This record gives sequence, structure tokens and C-alpha cells, in this order.
Amino acid sequence: MSERIDPVTGEPASISYVNVHKSFGTQHVLRGLNLAIPRGKITVIIGRSGTGKSVTIKHVMGLLRPDKGEIWVGNDNLATMRDRDLRTVRNRFGVVFQDAALFDSMNVLDNVAFPLREHSRLRDREVVAKVRGLLAQVGLAGAELKLPSQLSGGMRKRAGLARALVRDPEFVLYDEPTTGLDPILTAAMDKLIVDTQESRPGITSVVISHDMHAVLGIADKIAMLVDGVVAHEGTPEYFKNSKDPLVHQFLTGSLDGPMKV
Ligand SMILES: Nc1ncnc2c1ncn2[C@@H]1O[C@H](COP(=O)(O)OP(=O)(O)O)[C@@H](O)[C@H]1O
Ligand SMILES: [Mg+2]
Repeated sequence: MSERIDPVTGEPASISYVNVHKSFGTQHVLRGLNLAIPRGKITVIIGRSGTGKSVTIKHVMGLLRPDKGEIWVGNDNLATMRDRDLRTVRNRFGVVFQDAALFDSMNVLDNVAFPLREHSRLRDREVVAKVRGLLAQVGLAGAELKLPSQLSGGMRKRAGLARALVRDPEFVLYDEPTTGLDPILTAAMDKLIVDTQESRPGITSVVISHDMHAVLGIADKIAMLVDGVVAHEGTPEYFKNSKDPLVHQFLTGSLDGPMKV
């Protein structure tokens, strides 16, 4: 495929969705999704609960298959790939799940080390050194031996981020990384997302959020999902200045507007 350019940032698209459809039974969730994810940037996907944000990122990890359309990661179209090759593509992604998805019975160090111990040939001494370095980067130095149950919500998300980064992924996907955090922890997590992006040139970040206000400060590009398609995309400036009633309603969290509760 010839290289696509993201129209918002002008950067090459490291991921692109072309006319993607996905239904579950009679529920048509993705309805011709077109979206370019610019390389080396932070793209934020926003939209109301249940609009298909998580479904969108599950496709790019090969966890779901589209009914129709193409999903390009570099030169690979995931829609036509064999399962075995999909697993290889999945290794290029680090994912921070909403609930952090840590193993309850493992301490923080073992949780973060887990993907490396499973998939790399590093000596354990090297694994531990790497994990300690990452934990320091995410502000969890000293928490190595704590169990997930002994961590605050914000700390669990940081541990989830450290685990997502431990295999040096090209792509980091965050599914609602600040949901459930108070405003101060939300700001800290947002800063961590930006720091992670800036300290690893070349990585591509995709953040899912239902809070447009919170993402204006971190996004290079925002895509707004409505009814299974990208209804609006642009820079934070574009969204701030938009006169579109839908965008306005989303920005202000107003009950009045085209979106009904
Ligand atoms: N594996 C699945 N099986 C059936 N329905 C699903 C599945 N995954 C998601 N859905 C449905 O698709 C819609 C979009 O889900 P999701 O992408 O999780 O929404 P959100 O935008 O809140 O992340 C929801 O109505 C959800 O119930
Ligand atoms: Mg979701």
C-alpha cells in the first residue's frame, strides 16, 4: 500500500482504518470507520460510552476482526492476515487497560516483568533492572514489592503503563486511562502519557477517552466517534474553535444539543 498521510498532522499514518464495519449480532457498531493514526504522535479517540472506541482499538490489536474494510499497520492489512501473523503484530503494541488488569497475586515487579519473562531471553537480573528503571519512570520506585490490592487506583494505572512499556512497543494504546481518577491524578496521568511519548521518539500513542476537556491538552490529533464513524477530526485548536453543535455539546458536557441522553 502506498503510504497514507494523516490529514490532521501531516505525518505518515502508522495505522489506518479504511471503511471498517463491525457488527455484533444485529448491532452495527462500526459503520464505515475511516481513521489515520499519525506516527510519533498522540491521537485521542473520544466519543460517548458504547460508541465503539474500545472495539476500534481491539481491531488494531487483532483481538477483533472487521466484517468489512481494511486495517493497515505499516504494510500489513490485519483484515486478511492469518491468526499466527496477527499474534506477531500484537507484539508491537503495549496496552494500558481501563482496570489496569494486573495479576492480583503478583507483586508490582513481577506483574511488570511478566511479559518480558514470557517472551524474552533476558537474564532475570536484566529483567529486574529494566523493570526497576521503568517503575522509576512512572513514579513507582519503592513500590516493587507491593501487591495490586495495596496500591491506589492511580498507582495501579502506572503499574499497568509500566507493564505496557516493558517490551518497548511501537504503539501504546490507553483505554480510558484516567477514568475513575480524581482531577489531580488525572492531570498526573495525562502528564505521564505526554512524558512517555516524548521520551520515546517514534512511538505512536492512542488514547481513548470520553472526556474531551481532559484530552485537549495532550492530543496532537483528536477523532470524535459518533454512530460508528469519525464525525469530526482535528487538532485541539480545531475542536476548541468549532461551532459544530455536536462538538460544542461534547466539550461542555451539556444536556442540550444534538446528542440525546
Ligand atoms: N465482544 C462483543 N460482543 C458483543 N457486543 C460487543 C462486544 N464488544 C463490544 N460490544 C458492543 O459494542 C458497543 C461498543 O462497545 P465499546 O467499543 O466497548 O464502547 P466504548 O465506546 O464505550 O468503548 C457496545 O454496545 C458493546 O456492548
Ligand atoms: Mg471502552
